[in-house]
This record gives sequence, C-alpha cells and structure tokens, in this order.
Amino acid sequence: MTPDVARPIPPTLDVHLSGTELATALERDARAGLLASPKQLPPVYFYDDRGSRLFDEITRLPEYYPTRSERWILDAHAKDMALLSGADTLIELGAGTCEKSRVLLDAMQAVGLLSRYVPLDVSDTVLWEAATTLAEEYPGLAVHAVVGDFHRHLDQLPPGGRRLIAFLGGTIGNLGPAQRRRFLVDLDCTMDAEDRFLVGTDLVKDRDRLVRAYDDDAGVTAEFNKNVLSVLNRELGADFDPDRFDHVAVWNEEAQRIEMWLRSNAEQSIRVEGLDLDLVFGEGEAMLTEISTKFTPEGLAAELAECGFVVDAMWPSPGDDFLMTLCHPYC
Ligand code: AVJ
Repeated sequence: MTPDVARPIPPTLDVHLSGTELATALERDARAGLLASPKQLPPVYFYDDRGSRLFDEITRLPEYYPTRSERWILDAHAKDMALLSGADTLIELGAGTCEKSRVLLDAMQAVGLLSRYVPLDVSDTVLWEAATTLAEEYPGLAVHAVVGDFHRHLDQLPPGGRRLIAFLGGTIGNLGPAQRRRFLVDLDCTMDAEDRFLVGTDLVKDRDRLVRAYDDDAGVTAEFNKNVLSVLNRELGADFDPDRFDHVAVWNEEAQRIEMWLRSNAEQSIRVEGLDLDLVFGEGEAMLTEISTKFTPEGLAAELAECGFVVDAMWPSPGDDFLMTLCHPYC
C-alpha cells in the first residue's frame, strides 16, 4: 500500500425526506393543485425514473440549448469559480445524477482545495448510486449525500469549511417570484460570510427559440410533460389518459417565463382514488405543470441584492443564452 495515495472514503447518506413524507407531500400538493383554478401541479413530480430519463433526453435535443450553454460556461470558467470561491466543500442543490458537479469537482481539485461533496436531491436511489460512483472516482473526497427538498431542507445542509452552494441548470426559474425570494432569503440565512452561492439562470431571448426549446420536433418534451399524469395514476390511483391531453408551451411576456400546460382535448371526468377526488376537465381546459422563468443579468443582480447577496462575478455563455452567477451574503 502506498501511503501517499488517497483512498476512497465510503459515502454517507442523510435522509430528511422519507418515502412516506414524499408520498404525503404529493397527496397534499396534488389535492391543492387539482382543486385550484387554473389546475396546476408542481414540477418536482415530473422526475420519477421515466421522467428523469426523458429529461436526460431533453438535454440532448437540438432545440434545448440551456444544458449545453451552461456546460460551456462551466468548462470555460470552473477554475475561476473554484479560485474565487476558495471553497473546500461543494454542495449541489437538486444534484440528480451529479453529472455536472464533476466539472466543478475537477476544478476544485486542480486548485487543491477539494475535500467534501454534498449532493442534495429528493430521489434517494439516484443519489446513492451517484454518491457511490463519485466516492470511488475521487479518492480522498468525503461524499455526504443528503436526501431532501431544497424548499424545506436548506437548514439541514452540513456546516463547516468554506462551502460553494451550486444551483444549476436554471432550476431556480421553476420558482415563481415569491417562492424565489423566499428560497434566496432562506438560503442567505443559512450561509456563512465565507460561503458562496453559484446559480445558473436561463436568459431572456428570441421568443421562438424559447418556445421551441420547450416544444421540440421529436415530441420528447411533450412526453416529459404528460409523464406527470402517469405519476399521478401510479402514485395516487388516478385514471388520466395521457392521450386525451395535449402538450402546450407558451411564452408569458408579462411574467417573462415559459409555461408548460396540459390541455384537455375533450370534456372528461377523472377519478383520483388515492385522494377520493372526482374532477372534471372541460374541453380545452389546461393545467399548469411548469414555469421556467428567464432572466436578464440586471434583473437577476437586483433580485439577488434584494435578498441579501453581493455578486462576485457573472459569466454569460456565447450569445448570452445562459448565465452563471457567483455571489455571497453581505454581513
Ligand atoms: C431542469 C427545470 C431547468 O425549466 O428548462 C426542460 C426543465 N422542462 N424542458 C427547465 C424542463 C421542460 C428544466 N429545468
């Protein structure tokens, strides 16, 4: 055995969100959303195994530029991000398969600071698999996986060291203005003065390009959108027929966001056994399944400032398609 070669450290897993809690949250959210007007569902329920695979496919579609644009920024600037943050711990909110973290982990390692990686996600199976793989690939790296929801478990992120908290992919755009503020203020409150926040945001651009990114020719996004109905069928004993809904993606100019809807193509009754709920969808009635807010650098900077952050740096992708911002709490 060579003493100077770091050995893999077995990963650890904290569970703040059990299967039962997740099921209860789905029941509560589905009941509230299906009884609201217009009907709506939170986007987190897209991501069962099939939904996660479909999203993976979306990231490779010619029309869906955000993943590639963000990847370009990471490849070009991860080293600057590592140096500027001076962080030894990388925390990733909504880590999924932890694929994007590798670029940041490599940069932090190259700078010589990396000691700990904390991926947070709602899916324990995907998270555990990714944590195990990463612990083996990065000998000496302590992988501390956390099963939780970034809306509710920010205060459960492990303290210590200098932490770089990454929220990638533009997922912050899934939150409405009030939710986003609350998230940012909550996050700000859990951060130490030395911690840094790295956020990826999609930028406002030509309307047609935006709509096409959410309504691709191959119909993958349509499948992804309709998959939430299969989730409700399976988890709540509902009887949705995905073929009786159409995928709709629209640009909401006033709110500066893409909205995804599922529009009923006939008048129909739906039974949701698990909620003991009978619903009626009128012909053409649409249910809101996702918002994806687009930002301007100035608008984002103002919002961060209002929520207690100071911007350290902003890195746009070529053509200003996407933006990554590094910031820290003042005080
Ligand atoms: C993973 C939330 C960033 O809003 O662009 C992709 C999800 N929805 N196509 C996004 C999504 C439809 C995506 N985020």
